[in-house]
Amino acid sequence: MDTYIVNGGEKLYGKVQAQGAKNAVLPLLAASILTDEQVKIRGVPQITDVENMLRILRELGCTIKRRGENTLIDSANAISHEIPARLTKELRSSVFMLGSVLTRFRKARISYPGGCDIGLRPIDLHLSGLKRLGVRINEVGGFIECSADKLVGADILLDFPSVGATENIILAAVKAEGLTVIRNAAKEPEIVDLQNFLNAMGAKVQGAGGGTVVVEGVKRLHGVEYTPIGDRIEIGTYLIATAMCGGEIETNGVPPENIAALLHKLRENGCKIHTKNDKIVLQSCASLRAVDLVETMPFPGFPTDLQAQYSALCCTASGTSLIVENLFETRYKFAAELKRMGADITVRDRTAVIRGVKRLHGAKIVAGDLRGGAALVLAALAAEGQSQVLDLSHVDRGYADFEYKLKKLGAKIRRVRV
Ligand code: EPZ
Repeated sequence: MDTYIVNGGEKLYGKVQAQGAKNAVLPLLAASILTDEQVKIRGVPQITDVENMLRILRELGCTIKRRGENTLIDSANAISHEIPARLTKELRSSVFMLGSVLTRFRKARISYPGGCDIGLRPIDLHLSGLKRLGVRINEVGGFIECSADKLVGADILLDFPSVGATENIILAAVKAEGLTVIRNAAKEPEIVDLQNFLNAMGAKVQGAGGGTVVVEGVKRLHGVEYTPIGDRIEIGTYLIATAMCGGEIETNGVPPENIAALLHKLRENGCKIHTKNDKIVLQSCASLRAVDLVETMPFPGFPTDLQAQYSALCCTASGTSLIVENLFETRYKFAAELKRMGADITVRDRTAVIRGVKRLHGAKIVAGDLRGGAALVLAALAAEGQSQVLDLSHVDRGYADFEYKLKKLGAKIRRVRV
């Protein structure tokens, strides 16, 4: 099991370039099988979630070529409509494949993606949306078997602006007969990126980023070369790290509007933030002030994927912070580990009350999920003394070159295999 050894207390200075956004690249890879021509995606981060998605594409019969961060997908010989159960277990967001496999093969089979580290993760909105497009769905023995004589456009209202359900329905609608309207659609920047990618392939998708997405079905899609947006959650993580440790960083590749809710809170904490195009400069302050309340919300609200990292920041901000996690049921696993470092956190259901302490102290802590693991790394960087952060398999799912980028900023961190 890989472990970080961190000697805390170093300020962070320098520049960080965003990786390609994990949560944009995954649906783009799913969409790559919508054409039998070659698809080239640049800036694909080397993280395990992407490797697992590429393994799924290979199992479907695609040919994949990886040259550094450039990825070539050729799905001309794709023949299978079955997404392997062992890979769905590794990557629950493989559920996005349903929409694109149905568009390609008119049938799809996937094992029911269970819950995960952060919650139950139901897919009822995905399935009800697909049914509206004419998909017959059988849930047999833990598998979901889908088939459709043809996909027909429909007017779909989502009970909740689910990112995955919005993406799955778009992927099933791009070559359906007629018009599909998705109301109460998710507005995340990654949805806009998927729209731009599909339109570059010849699709007719509009409205992404607003609450209503309109898809006019087309006959065929062609190959494309595409560069995805920068990873706003990765960059938000580095900005929070600098606010916690002190120092000054410049990030590139993520426009400020994609993490405006975070920047607003960091300014309230006392950080100085200047922005220009997709450059963000953050100067930390001697001592962070607590903000009263942070509630996670669908975009453009405060992102749930930055909640854990921001909660770590609140541990040493002066005053009391109230954090409410509205998206997922169990996204506070990291809190018990932070308490071992001296944090004063009380969690009840989806609410955390965090009373700032002067300083956290180093400890041996264990990551339990992707963003909670990142939060523990940040706490170790800011703490006094040495920490060990165990089970890096979680952060390796979403952060490329994590220790390399942190070391470049001045952090004393090294990876050891124990
Ligand atoms: C995407 O997950 C992201 N993953 C998540 O990032 C992110 O936390 C989440 O969106 C919210 O922004 C990818 O894009 C690969 P949702 P997704 O459907 O699509 C409920 C990370 O750390 N819901 O928007 O699964 C669900 O229970 C990951 O990078 C239903 O009730 O999120 C949750 O409460 C973690 N029924 C809420 O919607 C459904 O059919 C948000 O889920 C689907 C969702």
